[in-house]
Amino acid sequence: MEHQTAAGLADLAGTWAVPAGGEALFTWEYDRPAERLLRLYTKGKQRQWDADERLDWSHEVDPSDPLGMPDELIWIADSELWDRLPEKERAHVRVHTAGWTYSQFLHGEQGALVCAARVVQMVPDINAKFFASTQVMDEARHVEGFSRYLREKIGVGYGVTSSLQGLLEAIVRDSRWDFTYLGMQVLIEGLALASFGIQRDMMTDPLAKAFNAYVLQDEARHVAFGQHALSEYYREITDAERSEREEFALEACHVLHDRFAGEELWSNLDYGTRECIEITRESASLRVFRYRLFSRIVPALKSIHLFGPKMQEGLGRLGLLRFAKGDLHDIMAADERAAREIELAQRKREIDTAIEAGGTGGGGAG
Ligand SMILES: [Fe+2]
Ligand SMILES: [Fe+2]
Repeated sequence: MEHQTAAGLADLAGTWAVPAGGEALFTWEYDRPAERLLRLYTKGKQRQWDADERLDWSHEVDPSDPLGMPDELIWIADSELWDRLPEKERAHVRVHTAGWTYSQFLHGEQGALVCAARVVQMVPDINAKFFASTQVMDEARHVEGFSRYLREKIGVGYGVTSSLQGLLEAIVRDSRWDFTYLGMQVLIEGLALASFGIQRDMMTDPLAKAFNAYVLQDEARHVAFGQHALSEYYREITDAERSEREEFALEACHVLHDRFAGEELWSNLDYGTRECIEITRESASLRVFRYRLFSRIVPALKSIHLFGPKMQEGLGRLGLLRFAKGDLHDIMAADERAAREIELAQRKREIDTAIEAGGTGGGGAG
């Protein structure tokens, strides 16, 4: 496969074909109300938002720091190498780190779009098909938003990193609907929650913060959906089936734990690829990411009953068992509150601006 780096988003080209197994499943059982799923579906319908309207794209980002990235989130910031770099080079690192990161978000969102569409086809329950179809629309809006941000505000794009590509491939290739759920709704969505949470809470650019808060609110629904479906299904499976799923999830945890060090970024920037990767692996920024990631994923695995001896042993080896006590519902409720707060603050600003301008029309974005 080929990675194109350090170009604008417009320079990324081509397609990637993954053979996808499985069956498209019709159901004739239309009348099986499932209250929790339907509640999520209703939320999914009602909380659609349009990035064109909801966000203030006229906001000008700092071209040398398009996300407002604090130094502690730059992977190589805690190093002699960074101390030696002149400010111009540091700006270059900030822009490219933003470009690499948002590019991975973009490719991951497309993965989510493809997987959600597969869930619509494969899942047996009609209510789950309903919800998954709102997720398809959510993910399309996320792809749209990240590609616009990359194009208009960052200007640098990267190809998909091999670890993310490998995960996506493993998920899409499998023909069983619950593997699509497990891979996408639990593991990749967990990755999304952690990554967008960091963007929302730690970046200082207001557009980047707001955009990620809205995306995060959608992702929280997607995770809740996956958990709901899988916790029922996995209660009933055999030990052999459970063990196979635990292996799949552990393998993904391994990749997520060890294999996101911005390889393409560093080989492109040319400050010494190997040294930069080493520094990245030990960086405080990556520790923050891992903490956020596994404090979401581990309780999720536990709540869907993938927490047998094999899983516990595997998580123990990665040093992740301490996260098993966390409460995912608290975290997700906090994500939702944060998005609401940003939304309310933004509406208030809009109203204030309208009043200042002496406008008499009320209203506002829906
Ligand atoms: Fe998404
Ligand atoms: Fe999602």
